[in-house]
Amino acid sequence: MAQIITEVSRTFNEFLLLPNRTRTDCSPATVDLRTPLSRHAVGERPAVELRVPFTSAIMQAVSTPELAIALARNGGLSFLHHNRSIQDQVAAVGQVKNVEAGAVTGAATPHSDARPDDMTRPLVGAGVNTHDYRERVPALADAGVDALCFDSSDGYSDWQAEALAWVKKHYPEIPAGGGNVVDGDAFVFLAEAGADFVKVGVGGGSICITRDQKGIGRGQASAVLDVAAARDAYRERTGVHVPVCSDGGLVHDYHVALALAMGADFVMMGRYFAGFDQAAGAKLATRDGFVKEYWGEGSNRARNWQRYGQGGQGLLFEEGVDGYVPYAGDLGEGLALTVAKLRTTMVSCGSATLEEFRSSARLTLVSDQSFQGSHANVALRAASPAVH
Ligand code: IMP
Repeated sequence: MAQIITEVSRTFNEFLLLPNRTRTDCSPATVDLRTPLSRHAVGERPAVELRVPFTSAIMQAVSTPELAIALARNGGLSFLHHNRSIQDQVAAVGQVKNVEAGAVTGAATPHSDARPDDMTRPLVGAGVNTHDYRERVPALADAGVDALCFDSSDGYSDWQAEALAWVKKHYPEIPAGGGNVVDGDAFVFLAEAGADFVKVGVGGGSICITRDQKGIGRGQASAVLDVAAARDAYRERTGVHVPVCSDGGLVHDYHVALALAMGADFVMMGRYFAGFDQAAGAKLATRDGFVKEYWGEGSNRARNWQRYGQGGQGLLFEEGVDGYVPYAGDLGEGLALTVAKLRTTMVSCGSATLEEFRSSARLTLVSDQSFQGSHANVALRAASPAVH
């Protein structure tokens, strides 16, 4: 008989953080946002570390070389998409690795003690798939890629375990993540297969219609909490920390803080980055301001069949939509604001580091009524005279 998980599947909107005691030496300027991207023994330094816990999605509409350079300069990392020839993806990696990073600026933590290589060449990641990894990974490694991520809408599979094991055997020095998963068993499966990090999220992306099409998915908050608990148990058992990435469904800036408080080591976002100048979509004028194109990898526009296990080589039905997001200007400026909010939230929660944040965070569920009532604009708009 099928197993029914009685716990309700919850999303970020259903939670709020409670303030904790803040000590005088904890201020936004001193908050340290460094976070590991790759597995490491507890107490040791990971091979790849981010200065801010942000990565951009493995999507054609999002992670261009320009965006990757801008995000790396601000302390994060982009994963360049793999839904193209190996040669084209390698060229994109080369475009990022061939620029001078200069000093890391903007949103990056003042604590950044970067390694020399980080300071001269921006960090960049690449998405890979379980179909052509034997050819694609060697070419990306030659191009100097800093991290890989197997990109699948369902990473809990033997194909992905085999592919991870192959990469770890031939390229042990390049961190390789796996995913996506939504529960603790799947985390352990990928961690034991050698994943350097595990990405969480099925069905929650802003452009995603997987839940409608296939009836598969889990509320992102429940998924992150479950996987983070498994990550902690694995760490306790093995002495190895395998970072967790919360991917998709982050709609408001504060959702990033919630994901990190619930246990994610870093987040991945598509919609958020798609609005910036550096993203791939065209910028269009509308009556209400500018928008940028944003389309899912499972849409007919992207046709990323490698990500969706629909059998054969093609996309039989769509799992994503093609749409628009509000134009958000320059990545550096937008990200600095999001990071400023994150630092302030962490200070309210009395945390100077992300590890402290997730170990001491207190979260409360909000009722539908208190959620509706908590938005100033609801009451104020109702009371405002019409503006012409
Ligand atoms: P967002 O930040 O909410 O826009 O979600 C971005 C994430 O959605 C990506 O990192 C992918 O994991 C996922 N994704 C990308 N394209 C599709 C799609 O077409 N269908 C379902 N999920 C998608």
